Amino acid sequence: MSKRENFGSKIGAVFATAGSAVGLGNIWRFPIETGRNGGAAFIIIYIACILLIGIPVMMSEFVIGKHTRSNTAGAYQKLAPGTQWKWVGRLGVFAGVLIFSYYSVVAGWTIEYAWLALSNSFLGKTPDEFGKIFAEFSTDPVRPTLWLIVFILLTHYIIVKGVTKGIERWSNVLMPVLLGIITILVVCSALLPNASEGLNFLLKPDFSKVDGKVVLNAMGQAFFSLSLGLGCLCTYASYFEPQTSISKTAIEVCTIDTLIALMAGFIIFPAAAASGYHLQPNDIGPSLIFITLPNVFQMAFHGLPWVAYIFSVMFYILLILAALTSTISMHEIVTSYMTEEFNLPRKKGAVFETGIAIILGTLCALSFGTLGNVHIFGMTIFDLFDWTVSNFCMPLGGMFISIFTGWYLDKKVFRDELTNYGKHGAPYVRGLVFTLRYITPLAIFLIFLNQFGVFNFA
Ligand code: PHE
Repeated sequence: MSKRENFGSKIGAVFATAGSAVGLGNIWRFPIETGRNGGAAFIIIYIACILLIGIPVMMSEFVIGKHTRSNTAGAYQKLAPGTQWKWVGRLGVFAGVLIFSYYSVVAGWTIEYAWLALSNSFLGKTPDEFGKIFAEFSTDPVRPTLWLIVFILLTHYIIVKGVTKGIERWSNVLMPVLLGIITILVVCSALLPNASEGLNFLLKPDFSKVDGKVVLNAMGQAFFSLSLGLGCLCTYASYFEPQTSISKTAIEVCTIDTLIALMAGFIIFPAAAASGYHLQPNDIGPSLIFITLPNVFQMAFHGLPWVAYIFSVMFYILLILAALTSTISMHEIVTSYMTEEFNLPRKKGAVFETGIAIILGTLCALSFGTLGNVHIFGMTIFDLFDWTVSNFCMPLGGMFISIFTGWYLDKKVFRDELTNYGKHGAPYVRGLVFTLRYITPLAIFLIFLNQFGVFNFA
């Protein structure tokens, strides 16, 4: 009998998986992509990407994980023994190591900023000063590295407690708190003067802005935001209880992820409108959350400094929570792999991943300052890691996962998992197989062609 752990409840499985999906990507990318790429038009395209790529790939990962009850590399070995498919799983583990290392750098920054907010350091600062604070902090050789290590150790602490008592228990606490905080922030933003102007700017449909590039951005965003292609979802699904429904869980996770991304927009755009600041196209990623927004929040609530204070503190706590539920899932990809494939106790497997992440993460953290002139393929270490994961491993993994389930996997296994062995219907199976065979791989292939300049959409 295997002593493998399970998520003890369906809601725990949904919170943990949604926790993986909801992360920095929802907050620092989605709202701005939406605002600059045609508002509601972009949202429609994004939802189409979720339906055609997100849900099919997510359900495939769920089937693979739940059926085999294995880490992502072991799963392919069970389903396709003696073939090269195991490399799809190994690619995921490799990408898991990279993403955990560099994502934790930014996650660490969120602790510094929560601290700055808490100690009321934003009060009375000018936009230029916010830029300077961030430049000085991110290039500092010590503080970002220390926060990085703190964040990695926090993740480690939860991981070593195990699947039920660590990942599930913490997700059940962190996700409701995250939902509560984001709701309060949305309400506060909605009460600001000019809030509707901001929302109007975010949502006004403008189809003239939509071109091939925008569609590709939407696809890339869907991959990152839903944690697709790295075996992260496969790993979590290996802990689903037998009665957990794959289709329901996938739909719930995608819905929560998309709603939270929209809510982030409902925080950022009204605040920007109230502060009189026009969000620029380059207000995306770290510069948005560490330079633009602290300034926007100060200006939006400028007559009410204590509201600005509480609002900023809550916002950075929100970022910490969103990042933490994601880093847990990244760590688990590698920990479950080390534990099961090398027969290690969970603690040793986790220590291995934590150790590597501290070393690689430190290199990434230093690549903003001390190691800033180290370039590999023209990129800093941080950018190289990000590029490798987001532009290479995720789409490649997603493409092979859809080819694997669409073409290779025994359709009986697929149907059995989707119907929970005949307990409920799954009338969509044929449509899903068709999508996985033709549409998803082709769409992802286009991302690659465009990325490597074989042809250009824009
Ligand atoms: N989905 C997370 C986010 O939006 C990132 C992530 C990617 C998490 C891959 C796990 C695996 O930030």
